[in-house]
Amino acid sequence: MIKLFYLIISPCIIIGFAFACVKTENAENIYSVNQKNQISDTCNDPDRDDINCHFEYMPENVSAYLKIADDTVSGYRIIIKSRLLKSDGKTPIPNAYVFHYHTDKNGYYPKNGKEKGIHKWTGYLHGWNKTDENGYFEIHTIRPAQYPSNDFPAHIHSVVKINSDTKAFYINDYVFKDDPLVSEKYTGNLNFQGGNGIVEFDSDSSGVLIGKRDIILNKIN
Ligand SMILES: [Fe+2]
Repeated sequence: MIKLFYLIISPCIIIGFAFACVKTENAENIYSVNQKNQISDTCNDPDRDDINCHFEYMPENVSAYLKIADDTVSGYRIIIKSRLLKSDGKTPIPNAYVFHYHTDKNGYYPKNGKEKGIHKWTGYLHGWNKTDENGYFEIHTIRPAQYPSNDFPAHIHSVVKINSDTKAFYINDYVFKDDPLVSEKYTGNLNFQGGNGIVEFDSDSSGVLIGKRDIILNKIN
């Protein structure tokens, strides 16, 4: 029996192991080539660290008015009125592009299968503004919820691109003043510019929540 093992079974194990190694190595090589191609050629990769990908599919006719969630999306309706300003807090930054995306009322980034590029991961609740001559823009959408993990405030991500030739950059998220997770710990960990992003809302006569934010940029990339 021992002889049988050495003569027949043992070589099979060794040969099989060798093939498995080659197969694994090939798979890794193919994966690495694909990964390189995706990263270098397209924004079609959730791990691609290129913030400009958010502007890849920006329509031509963006304006100071943006409706992110259409009437079929359920949730509390909100309007946020913002101004993009230079470091003096007064001088407007006109004709800048601002991209936004956020979760739905359940804390998920919802997808409908029609998203392109990086928006396959950010979901369809997204859109772009172009600031007017006063640096003004407004977003009409629904109030997003905290992630289901409830470990981060509900927020709207925003990315600014001063003009088509400059690199985009994040500003601190829009967050809601009445959110219990908007705390000193939260504001102490903010990484970007544009103020702390905390917005206080009042409801108008129709129940829509309306808030304001001045975004002061200390540095324009
Ligand atoms: Fe987020």
